[in-house]
Amino acid sequence: MGFDLSGKVAVITGGGGVLCSTIARSLAGEGVKCVILDIAEDKARKALELVEKAGSEGLALATDVLKRGDLERALEETLRAFGRVDFLINGAGGNHPRATTSKEVPFFDLPEDAVRFVFDLNFMGTFLASQVFAKAMAERGEGVILNIASMNAIRPLTRIPAYSAAKAAVANFTQWLAVHMAQEYSPAIRVVSIAPGFFLTEQNRYLLMDERGELTERGKRIIEHTPMGRFGDPEDLVGAVIWLLSPAASFVTGVVIPIDGGFSAYSGV
Ligand SMILES: NC(=O)c1ccc[n+]([C@@H]2O[C@H](COP(=O)([O-])OP(=O)(O)OC[C@H]3O[C@@H](n4cnc5c(N)ncnc54)[C@H](O)[C@@H]3O)[C@@H](O)[C@H]2O)c1
Repeated sequence: MGFDLSGKVAVITGGGGVLCSTIARSLAGEGVKCVILDIAEDKARKALELVEKAGSEGLALATDVLKRGDLERALEETLRAFGRVDFLINGAGGNHPRATTSKEVPFFDLPEDAVRFVFDLNFMGTFLASQVFAKAMAERGEGVILNIASMNAIRPLTRIPAYSAAKAAVANFTQWLAVHMAQEYSPAIRVVSIAPGFFLTEQNRYLLMDERGELTERGKRIIEHTPMGRFGDPEDLVGAVIWLLSPAASFVTGVVIPIDGGFSAYSGV
């Protein structure tokens, strides 16, 4: 039992994004082959370059997690290149400004298409990718699926109801699929998730920083409510991800691990 991941094959959806490209680069440093799936092909290629620079190999595949055909093609290409899938990291996700309440657009007027977009991307994108890749894991009798939830999964944040509901669904689905895979297929197939706190990235910058680069009221409240007093750095996720994927976590399944500088533990007083 240990943390050794060398020679394993990870498929990472949204792998071209800020958090998941850091995760991919770090896994590559541990000897993991990383298959980067991203709707944005250029981002996938850039993440693959990081993987290669870290001394590993992989693939960059333009893939929409909402299209089953894309996911099936990605599975085929992964099996053709590397013969196996050990890990699926469901990283594609995010909020959308149009699904965010504001003075101008109150809850009553949130456009249905924006709400569905956010719910689909975060929940259905995780669900569909799990269907496709868990099947390959079921055939081999082992594997780990790691979902990316959020603080919203633990308690909803103001203004972003679709994202909150979708991440709560991701956390719930983590538990459901963990039980299902262990009971129906193999106890060596684990399903886990991380709930990152606040990481300043493109998808939330508009909520946390103003045009002058100063913290917004919301940004300030987050920092005040984070006992460690800072936003997260993508590198902060890496240790927990390595642990959850590795044999060191072989009796861990169905969990949602907060990586939040204490945000979810703090009552505010
Ligand atoms: N940034 C944060 O503070 C934070 C906090 C908690 C959870 N998260 C979650 O972590 C994950 C990564 O977030 P990030 O901050 O790195 O965001 P990001 O926007 O940098 O990364 C998301 C990636 O997903 C890709 N993507 C979008 N739609 C897709 C689709 N249909 N199919 C395939 N790929 C698609 C994007 O091109 C992008 O590269 C998301 O699930 C996000 O919700 C982020």
